[in-house]
Amino acid sequence: MNFQNKNKYPDSWSSFMSESLNDLKAKGLYRKLRVIDNSVSTRVTVDNRTIVLFSSNDYLGLANDTRMKEASASAALSWGTGSGASRLISGNTSQYTMLEEAVAGFKKSESALVFSSGYSANAGVISSLAGEGDLILSDALNHASIIDACKLTKAKVLAYPHCDTDFIINYLDNSPIHKKVLVVTDGVFSMTGELAPIHKLYSICKQYDALLMIDDAHGTGVIGHEGRGSLDYCNMNDAGIVQVGTFSKAIGGLGGFVTGSNLLIDYIINNARSLIYSTALPPSVLASNLEGIRIAQKDTSLRKKLFDLINQMRAGLTRLGFPVFHIPTPILPIVIGDVSETLLVSEYLWDKGFFVPPIRPPTVMPGESCLRISLSASHTKEEIESLLLAIEEYYKK
Ligand SMILES: Cc1ncc(COP(=O)(O)O)c(C=O)c1O
Repeated sequence: MNFQNKNKYPDSWSSFMSESLNDLKAKGLYRKLRVIDNSVSTRVTVDNRTIVLFSSNDYLGLANDTRMKEASASAALSWGTGSGASRLISGNTSQYTMLEEAVAGFKKSESALVFSSGYSANAGVISSLAGEGDLILSDALNHASIIDACKLTKAKVLAYPHCDTDFIINYLDNSPIHKKVLVVTDGVFSMTGELAPIHKLYSICKQYDALLMIDDAHGTGVIGHEGRGSLDYCNMNDAGIVQVGTFSKAIGGLGGFVTGSNLLIDYIINNARSLIYSTALPPSVLASNLEGIRIAQKDTSLRKKLFDLINQMRAGLTRLGFPVFHIPTPILPIVIGDVSETLLVSEYLWDKGFFVPPIRPPTVMPGESCLRISLSASHTKEEIESLLLAIEEYYKK
């Protein structure tokens, strides 16, 4: 059999794929995978060069923390490498119980349920909650996993203008009656680092008998007391709010979760297809997630270091004339607008030894391409200063 044969697919399929890729290339939207040869937190080796990453969501630097690595290795040695089945068959070990108790405690919720990723948590939660005759109001800048999850339902889905609570009120006042209404938003927006108007959304939901769901992938471990996230930052508890989160960012691991009442979690266990039909996480991952939650809560020095770096970067960007949001988060976008210009700045920084990813449509709205700088407690003050200098040099050219 000749595996080199370029025409192994029917012509119609090969030309469909090539034309689509050529179209992306013409629009500057083509993407390819970079290979990282070696990783020591924020410094990686790519094509034999050392690059400082300003692109990772490992906000507390836990993905390379010795305590995390030891927890993971020790669980693999005692429990093995795979779970062998989905949670509802025989993959639900006592490690899950410990992790879910820790997450519920961390989020100050009655109960928690762990999924294989944040993507699959959103898919499972939203598709179980909403169905035919329901309405989902979803912020226009919500993460793609929320957008995809909404598509799994038969509900009417409306993307409301970003953070526009007046639009929601107006829509609810004038729209036909729906069976149930779900309002869903990122807590901290993944591309802009802004905080959603949580208080306002919560009071709208109360007034219109709607359910509020907050995806706090980027707030968890970072903002709020002990890193509890956006709700805590807003001095709110989870009263009647569905919270989704992920271990893959500040917690330094992998997996997603939802927290809420016992009733909600019981309902989701019985309905979420991404939980029911997917193999349980491996023991090493469950163990490092548990350790990550413990460290994120108790080791306040990491968050203190992260916020010192955030303040340094915000001051530097302000000095260079770039606007920064009122609430400090480790996500600092530099909005450039034009796709080609965004690519040029990112490539210039890459040549100088920094990876600051260009974020283009469809991840952001057309005309709003940006560089997304993300910071980690593992960065040094010198790295921040060098990046700021490189940005300044680009704009002085
Ligand atoms: C807001 C938000 N939700 C969900 C996800 C998906 O999480 P995960 O990477 O754990 O699948 C991400 C990031 O990838 C995200 O930014």
